[in-house]
Amino acid sequence: MYKLVGTISGEVGLHEFDFIVTGEVRRNEYVKVWNELDGWILGRVASIVEAEKKTATVELIGYKDDRGFLMQPRNTFSRDEKVFKADQTFVMDTLGLKSGGIYLGLLDGRNIPVYLRKEELIQKHCSILAKTGSGKSYTAGVLIEELLEKDVPLLIIDPHGEYISLKYENRSEEERKQMEKFGISPEGYASKVVVYTPANFSINPAADKLFRIDGINLSVKELYDLLPLSDAQLGVLYQCINGIKAEKEFYTIEDIIKKVSESKSNAKWRIIHFLERIRETGILSDSPTRIEDLVKVGKASIIDMKGAEPKLQQLIVYRICKEVFEARKMGKIPPFMLVIEEAHNFCPERGFEKAVSSNVLRTIASEGRKFGLGLLVISQRPARVDKNVISQCNTQIILRVSNPNDIRALSRGLEFMSSEMEEEIKRIPQGVALLSSPSIEMPILVDVRVRRSEHGGRAVEMEEVEKKEKIEAESKKKEWNAREEEGRRSMFAKLLFE
Ligand SMILES: Nc1ncnc2c1ncn2[C@@H]1O[C@H](COP(=O)(O)OP(=O)(O)O)[C@@H](O)[C@H]1O
Ligand SMILES: [Mg+2]
Repeated sequence: MYKLVGTISGEVGLHEFDFIVTGEVRRNEYVKVWNELDGWILGRVASIVEAEKKTATVELIGYKDDRGFLMQPRNTFSRDEKVFKADQTFVMDTLGLKSGGIYLGLLDGRNIPVYLRKEELIQKHCSILAKTGSGKSYTAGVLIEELLEKDVPLLIIDPHGEYISLKYENRSEEERKQMEKFGISPEGYASKVVVYTPANFSINPAADKLFRIDGINLSVKELYDLLPLSDAQLGVLYQCINGIKAEKEFYTIEDIIKKVSESKSNAKWRIIHFLERIRETGILSDSPTRIEDLVKVGKASIIDMKGAEPKLQQLIVYRICKEVFEARKMGKIPPFMLVIEEAHNFCPERGFEKAVSSNVLRTIASEGRKFGLGLLVISQRPARVDKNVISQCNTQIILRVSNPNDIRALSRGLEFMSSEMEEEIKRIPQGVALLSSPSIEMPILVDVRVRRSEHGGRAVEMEEVEKKEKIEAESKKKEWNAREEEGRRSMFAKLLFE
């Protein structure tokens, strides 16, 4: 009843062996061999060589002992021992795969579903790292769908507006054909997804609501967090705000600008410029978005950053993170998952860019778990994401990575990475992920399931190209203007958001 795939031959080591292939077997297939002392042992076909005889090399995974620990066999196999295809129960038991939970996809090459524990995702954070176009956002979408099905609240930082498509069911013919294989059906989440825009409805007509920050009674500290002020400028701002406080119970940014412009200090010009830029973004309001509305059971709130400059995006992430962390600590909002796309922009590794959102993200990464605040960190540049954040992610999903710096960064950050795995992740096809998670015994390759809802990434790729062209044209124009005028105004315009 066991399917024979071959017979051991040649050198037999403690960690691997070769066998002559006689049955049907492919790379990454799971096989088992009988061992006198320890019983059935699980192995994975690491490579197959077609020479005179077809030979496969198997890396041993091991067996579960009575206590449920994964063990390596104590002695080598006998020559001529038979190699069988491993049956589903044996594979699941040995790898520690359990049924039920967050359904990610199928064990590569097998029809064995791979699930993650919901609690583990939220309490121990998760990262998705890979090069562009390898399926990061797609895979994040799969996790988001699963969390939505389980009514886990989500807050999604979406720089490219690619998650709005969660509202609609998957329309791809190609992908719908694969749904049966994965045992799923199409589904749109329009009733659960709310899209917020920090800009406005003419820039982002698809948004459901405006995202606004409280602009009333901004403190010196808050402004200092937002603005790159020198000590002298800070001093002026401090004096002005104190002055206003003595006169008014409630004040707006307008009041601050007015007060600062009355100052006699030369430092005031730059402060006014900064304040005006913030005001112009329209992000400040006297009816700010409530954190309790953003994080709600059964809802996914998307902050669609379309139309927001990078610095403003960082500012928004900073404010949101600070508020949700406080709110979670005080139990004002339920446990939830915070999804950060393009994480290298919001918590860059030291030595690369700087972001106001860095510190608070680092805090959430190290302390969030205590309060049921899970992070899902996504990036195409692992080397550029703060390694303190990455190293706190216990579930790692790695898709194809080819940049040598990024592979090195992964190896440094992830203890399970071996040199074989480095080779593996250069080769894995689109949609296949290397998964490492506390609940499974060793990293495995997962054929990530197709999406129930529409994936917005493709449209984004096109938009990105157009945007890039536009930015290039604009920066040329800007340069030209700057040279033409050399005026104070255009110099000023460059000062803040750069
Ligand atoms: N698991 C998958 N199943 C089917 N297609 C996938 C899968 N993962 C990725 N793709 C395809 O790859 C494309 C790029 O994926 P995407 O997640 O947008 O890349 P990234 O975010 O890494 O740049 C998608 O548009 C989709 O067509
Ligand atoms: Mg993407």
